[in-house]
Amino acid sequence: MPLARRRFDTLIIGAGGAGLNAALQLADSGLGVAVVSKVFPTRSHTVAAQGGVNAALANVLPDNWHWHMFDTVKGSDYLGDQDAIEFMCREAIPTVYELEHAGVPFSRLPDGRIYQRKFGGQSQNFGGEQAARTCAAADRTGHAILHALYQQNLRAKTHFFDEWFAINLLRDAEGVVLGALVIEIASGEPLIIEAKTTLLATGGCGQVFRTNSNAHINTGDGMAMALRIGVPLMDMEFFQFHPTGIAGKGMLISEGVRGEGGYLINKDGERFMDRYAPHARDLASRDVVSRSIMTEIKEGRGCGPRGDYMLLKVDHLGEEVVAKRLPGIRESSKIFAGVDPAHEPIPVFPTAHYSMGGIPTDRFGRVVVPERHGEETVPGLYAAGECACASVHGANRLGGNSLLDILVFGRLAGKDIREYVRENPYHRDLDDAVVQAAIAPLERWEQGGDGPGVAEVRAELQRTMEDHAGVFRTDEIMREGVDKLDALRDRLAAARLRDHSKAFNTARIQALELDNLYDVGRALAVSALHRQESRGAHSRPDYPERDDKQWMKHSLYFKAGDAMDYKPVRTKPLTVETFPPKPRVY
Ligand code: FUM
Repeated sequence: MPLARRRFDTLIIGAGGAGLNAALQLADSGLGVAVVSKVFPTRSHTVAAQGGVNAALANVLPDNWHWHMFDTVKGSDYLGDQDAIEFMCREAIPTVYELEHAGVPFSRLPDGRIYQRKFGGQSQNFGGEQAARTCAAADRTGHAILHALYQQNLRAKTHFFDEWFAINLLRDAEGVVLGALVIEIASGEPLIIEAKTTLLATGGCGQVFRTNSNAHINTGDGMAMALRIGVPLMDMEFFQFHPTGIAGKGMLISEGVRGEGGYLINKDGERFMDRYAPHARDLASRDVVSRSIMTEIKEGRGCGPRGDYMLLKVDHLGEEVVAKRLPGIRESSKIFAGVDPAHEPIPVFPTAHYSMGGIPTDRFGRVVVPERHGEETVPGLYAAGECACASVHGANRLGGNSLLDILVFGRLAGKDIREYVRENPYHRDLDDAVVQAAIAPLERWEQGGDGPGVAEVRAELQRTMEDHAGVFRTDEIMREGVDKLDALRDRLAAARLRDHSKAFNTARIQALELDNLYDVGRALAVSALHRQESRGAHSRPDYPERDDKQWMKHSLYFKAGDAMDYKPVRTKPLTVETFPPKPRVY
């Protein structure tokens, strides 16, 4: 029987901040917008963002977008594209005001303006004193933003497919993307959604690592779908480890804690960040703080019976500050670490947090791929948010720039899609062969027989990534990791689903997610193996220096044959002078 079909002007896959902000632009202009989300939209991972969103509002300390731009370029270890970064930092200010008008309940200063806290890597006057740039709704900023955006989309009549999973993109012989094949989790029924444009906004892939701060849903689905239609992933070697996950568990303890005055100590009670970043101390950039924690542990100054974590001290801030500014992390600490931070320090350890790399896009969300004479866009395909790489984070993202990225580039993608649909007003014919190619992963998991289980292979993958692609990486460690991934590929091919029932078969969804996790994990590991320098979050004791001569370039990983390609960093901003690479000290 032929598969059921629906048609929309635009299909958006993912209902976090990027997807919903794009959807809002489109639905408000009267286009037919379908949002497919594998969870109920307000459970998307944006809901978990804690500390806030950066914008140089200058509500607490002097600030401007140019200082924000400088910090972002420096934070990226000079690998971010400076035109995109300038654009994002300028757009930050109207974006936050737009959110305020959309109903986001930001915390307030006594005079009613939006509260802004200090975050890592922020400075006044191009590297001077600490800035306070992060607009916050207590420590639940993502929650506040996501709920407001969802409500606005309900008003605008966006069509939601809640708890539907996207399996594959539909790309025709001319290379045009025509929508996606999706499956309803409740019924197990597949559906073809035909669309004139498709926006991938599926978030990150933190679940490739065993210990991470991400939701279970962050399995790199959009990134893997892009890989399967021949689109490369860019800068995948740059994966951020947030310094303060709850030790042994991984849940996030916001940088906002250090922004409010919390600090890290080792087993001797020493504020060890003074040695690694004498100026910024605990508010150095995340890659710096994570490496410092790992070094303290390696050199025998870790806390606890096994010496394997650091302590984050908060109690000196007083119960009132903790209750008002950090209620969420207080709750998480009590539940997952068994401590009340108003009275005891929190045991912390770096946790896999954020993918700087992703699907290469321009600043309008258009997916760009290398061609013989430069770059071309993939017609009909857009990406925004953590699954995308507009290249504003380079080798290391600054805290508070993630919510900013999803909002700015989600919005811009929405606006560009509007133009695209105006110029391409008709649906194209969709061949059966395209649908057949897209349905292959679903059919593969219907095979019977014995084989390794999905959970088992997933656990092996996560352990391999943790052991071989962590904070410190050497050639030997990474090669061993890629060898293990080779062996795991055979285990994955042999793996079988035990339960083939249709209704609410979440085991089938997990199997499809495992395919995605594997492809994205492999992209990360192979890209990391090739980059022979230390830059941002990619830290190699065997190549300890940043090498601007050889490596001031973006990597591109292709699934076919694990092929790598490279393209130059865009160092020319839109209107201001370039920030040339300098040694990066905090
Ligand atoms: O620490 C945090 O609140 C995380 C923020 C971010 O990743 O931007």
